[in-house]
Amino acid sequence: MDEKGLTSPMRILITAGSTREPIDPVRFLSNRSTGKMGYALAEAALVAGDEVILISGPVTLKAPEGVRLVSVETAQQMYDAVAREIANCDAAIFCAAVADYRPEVILPKKLKKSGDAMQLTLVRTPDILGSARGVFGFRGVLVGFAAETDDLEQNALDKLHRKGCDLLVANDVSRSDIGFGSDENEVRLFFSKGGHRTIAQASKDAIAAELLQEIHKLLQERLT
Ligand code: PMT
Repeated sequence: MDEKGLTSPMRILITAGSTREPIDPVRFLSNRSTGKMGYALAEAALVAGDEVILISGPVTLKAPEGVRLVSVETAQQMYDAVAREIANCDAAIFCAAVADYRPEVILPKKLKKSGDAMQLTLVRTPDILGSARGVFGFRGVLVGFAAETDDLEQNALDKLHRKGCDLLVANDVSRSDIGFGSDENEVRLFFSKGGHRTIAQASKDAIAAELLQEIHKLLQERLT
């Protein structure tokens, strides 16, 4: 381990940004993720000397030079890309804000106005993080995020165990100074081996660098 707490380079997969679930050729369902947190993680991993596969939804950010960028739009495309890429990775961080539901039918033509109300039937998208262990057979260090507006600790612990993560990174997205879109974040880390800690409010770059140290440590613990 070097003075920054980093072990030897690893191959790491990172998901980032939002997904877009089309309604018709001009409309989609999405969310407020800008990709800033995920791209900061990709940059921090590169600085640590890691090989980075960045699977990103549509964002306006430029991918850090040196990452292998896989651009996707929908949750299904992100699922397919992760399924293809995760096998030989030492660690995977699921930072993307993936749509949980998509329109059941994608209309081939622009939906016309008719009446005062309309109904859209939504169906579940695949749970990508939840598929990592059981479906993709991933054995590396698995890191999930949790975007919470309430009951942060309880929801985070539930996701940590239900999705088979080693580490769950929870952020309070009801705050406007951290979480979606902001340049800063504050995160609480929950470990499957037990224990938790907070990384106090700081730039997403600083948070990402600390998270990478934690992930390198988790990998090191597995190898020793
Ligand atoms: O992109 P920014 O603007 O910088 O904002 C950063 C962020 C707020 C998006 C980020 O810090 C964050 O919280 N990312 C996770 C967002 C999220 O969708 O959380 P969730 O609690 O709904 O999902 C739990 C976990 O399951 C996440 O790791 C998510 O990537 C994953 N998931 C969710 C649904 C799904 N169908 N597949 C998944 O893999």
